[in-house]
Amino acid sequence: MASHDRLLPVLDAVLDRSLVGYTRLGPALRRRWWPADPEPGSLAGQRVVVTGATSGLGEAMVTSFASLGATVHVLGRNPEKIARVLADVRAAMPTAELVEEVCDVGDLDAVRAWCDDLAARLDASGDGLRGLVHNAGVMLDERTESPQGHEMTLAVHVLGPHLMTERLLPQLGRAGGSVVWMSSGGMYSAGLRTTPETIEYRDGGPAGYRGIRAYARTKRMQVELADAWNDRLRGGEVRVESCHPGWAATPGVTDSLPGFDKVMGPLLRDAEGGADTAVWLVAARPDSDGTHHFWHDRAPRPTTFLVQRPTDPDQRRDFVDYVAGATGTVWPA
Ligand SMILES: NC(=O)c1ccc[n+]([C@@H]2O[C@H](COP(=O)([O-])OP(=O)(O)OC[C@H]3O[C@@H](n4cnc5c(N)ncnc54)[C@H](OP(=O)(O)O)[C@@H]3O)[C@@H](O)[C@H]2O)c1
Repeated sequence: MASHDRLLPVLDAVLDRSLVGYTRLGPALRRRWWPADPEPGSLAGQRVVVTGATSGLGEAMVTSFASLGATVHVLGRNPEKIARVLADVRAAMPTAELVEEVCDVGDLDAVRAWCDDLAARLDASGDGLRGLVHNAGVMLDERTESPQGHEMTLAVHVLGPHLMTERLLPQLGRAGGSVVWMSSGGMYSAGLRTTPETIEYRDGGPAGYRGIRAYARTKRMQVELADAWNDRLRGGEVRVESCHPGWAATPGVTDSLPGFDKVMGPLLRDAEGGADTAVWLVAARPDSDGTHHFWHDRAPRPTTFLVQRPTDPDQRRDFVDYVAGATGTVWPA
């Protein structure tokens, strides 16, 4: 092995641990050694669902998946915003195959109805689902609840996506599909919550709620849930991964974190750079070492930082059981 080949993993890890890799420098440097781009047309004839596709990273994913030839199901909660995305992408890429999908990911009844509808359409055509990217995200100022009474970031980041994954498993299996949870590097700041009180962020009372903490907690939950799914489905047709995008310039960052945006603005990567790994995970279906399923810039990354300890398997099971109960689904023993 040439000496620079041995140094590249070290440099990559330094970029990761120092957080410099989260900025636009991450993809700019790493693309010199990261795995090859998916072949043009590699997703032709395949279907991919992107949630939260009306803004930022999700919108960038629509363009990237369409340019690989996929039929992209553009899922949002606002029909006007979806129509705008469809018009913009078609203006730039007239051959793009796009399907409008309206669903509020935080409303479990809406998710159930939408999944049944999509499954019926796919079953009628015999098509499968090659990709399901759980990208929809929110950061809220106050504790609010979903129509089913769940804390809202939990509902949007964890419960809705979990239910979607359960209900679309047959269609995902038919296409050798990949499920990708778009988490956040912010998840490193939170351990997994495992009691109903803390999962639903009722601890501390209304005054104790911090949107940024709720965000970090539920982003940690996404990584743990994706790992649990991966264990459950190991060796089967469907892969389940999680990733984080680094720091990307999107309306979500500008609106939710204006101070961060002001300081970091020039260093933020563009939305396409933030979306890259999720698109690559679906298109390339890379092999991991069997234990790491949390990715960033086309490489597996640790799920703990510095002195953090890995989550206890029994506690993770408590969390998964709560998610299964809240979504009315059954998690195998
Ligand atoms: N940008 C970054 O640097 C960064 C860093 C770490 C993680 N992330 C993660 O990446 C994902 C995308 O972030 P972004 O920066 O692109 O944010 P964004 O610009 O705010 O986009 C978020 C998208 O999610 C949609 N959404 C929110 N709640 C929804 C619901 N209940 N049902 C359906 N769609 C819903 C939004 O739709 P509306 O337009 O209708 O609100 C919007 O399309 C998020 O999961 C975020 O946590 C981003």
